[in-house]
Amino acid sequence: MKADLIINASTIACCTEGKGAGIIEGGYIAVKNGRIIELGKGNAPVNMEGSNTRIINAYGKTVTPGLIDSHTHLIHGGSREKELPLKLKGVPYLEILKMGGGILSTVRSTRSASKEELKSKAEKSLDRMLLHGTTTVEAKSGYGLDFDTEIKCLEAAAELNASHPVDIVSTYMGAHAVPEEFKGNTRGYMGFMFEKVMPYIRENNLAEYIDVFCEEGVFSPEESRIIMQKGKEEGFKLKIHADEIVPLQGAELAGEMGAVSAEHLLAASDEGIAAMAEAGTTAILLPGTSFYLMLGKYAQARKMMEKGVRVAIATDYNPGTCPTENLQSIMTFACFGMKMTPEEIIKGMTLNAAYGVDKVMEIGSLEAGKKADMVIFDAPNLEYIIYHFGINHVSTVIKNGETVVENGMIIKNKGIGR
Ligand code: NIG
Ligand code: FE
Repeated sequence: MKADLIINASTIACCTEGKGAGIIEGGYIAVKNGRIIELGKGNAPVNMEGSNTRIINAYGKTVTPGLIDSHTHLIHGGSREKELPLKLKGVPYLEILKMGGGILSTVRSTRSASKEELKSKAEKSLDRMLLHGTTTVEAKSGYGLDFDTEIKCLEAAAELNASHPVDIVSTYMGAHAVPEEFKGNTRGYMGFMFEKVMPYIRENNLAEYIDVFCEEGVFSPEESRIIMQKGKEEGFKLKIHADEIVPLQGAELAGEMGAVSAEHLLAASDEGIAAMAEAGTTAILLPGTSFYLMLGKYAQARKMMEKGVRVAIATDYNPGTCPTENLQSIMTFACFGMKMTPEEIIKGMTLNAAYGVDKVMEIGSLEAGKKADMVIFDAPNLEYIIYHFGINHVSTVIKNGETVVENGMIIKNKGIGR
């Protein structure tokens, strides 16, 4: 029987239900066979300290649940740093897309890459995520758009899920843009997704969710509703990129359709916020994207929380609007951009993010019975992680009870807990 015992932790952020982050100052966590069996304040129970138990002294350190990055566009080819001069000139994001750049330029790079190339690029990203404390990631397709490339990307995600310690939750996002071959024929493209792509993904269990980019010049609210309805009928759970740039009542639509999550939401209306609270839709906010698009505006996290919406925070890792795998930097943007407290932020990347991917029975908090996915930060408290920004504070990552990062380095990379 394999056991670990973390002792003397200066801060444990349990991230359990209820107000605050469930902070324990000076405590222990006992793990057996990949699960948390007990945790609390003070000294660990003596009977855990057998010879088979590995003791980890976390004095001066902070322990949190493994971070969950609940919104990423993990699998893609190429990079878009060449768009930087356009961005600096102030050319708007949707304008670059209209000119065939943006998402459509990544579509070209993704189509021309082999599955192996996409996997090795994404594997590097997963390594970076793990090193920064992420143990579960949601990954959207949507840079292939045609049948072969979407399937290639979703298969790449499934294969990486089987081989890499980070768990991947897959989303089919064919509705990320209308591909050039269907330009001016959005309905034709929707028919193609409905008849050719969605049934295949379902039959082959390649995605749990569908997502749609409901945005001016991309998919209208009416088209988004039809796509979500079809996805639901096919048995997918729903996500939506809602009210990112132009207010289109995407949050209202998320509530109406019973979406698990609505994401971005910078321009969400009061009615949309109420609809999400009512439906129990998790708001996944992406402050790194606000920063990177230089929008001068962040989602109204405080208002959403006051109105009873569960708020999660994610990177939006993608090659255009937020090219970073580092959730710790995003913590700082959430704090300074959206005025969230460190306890609210860590909950947004653990328990609330687990709701955002519908995995709350297994992960997202430190409590007996849950998976032992944990991060030990070389920081005495949560505030310090956010305050001292732009660096990696992670010293140890434990995934399914196995230590996968030690002293800030990956020590194990395959077949963890499977
Ligand atoms: O979430 N908004 C749409 N999709 C991504 C950006 C994709 C890209 O620019 O490549 C986002 O911001
Ligand atoms: Fe996104």
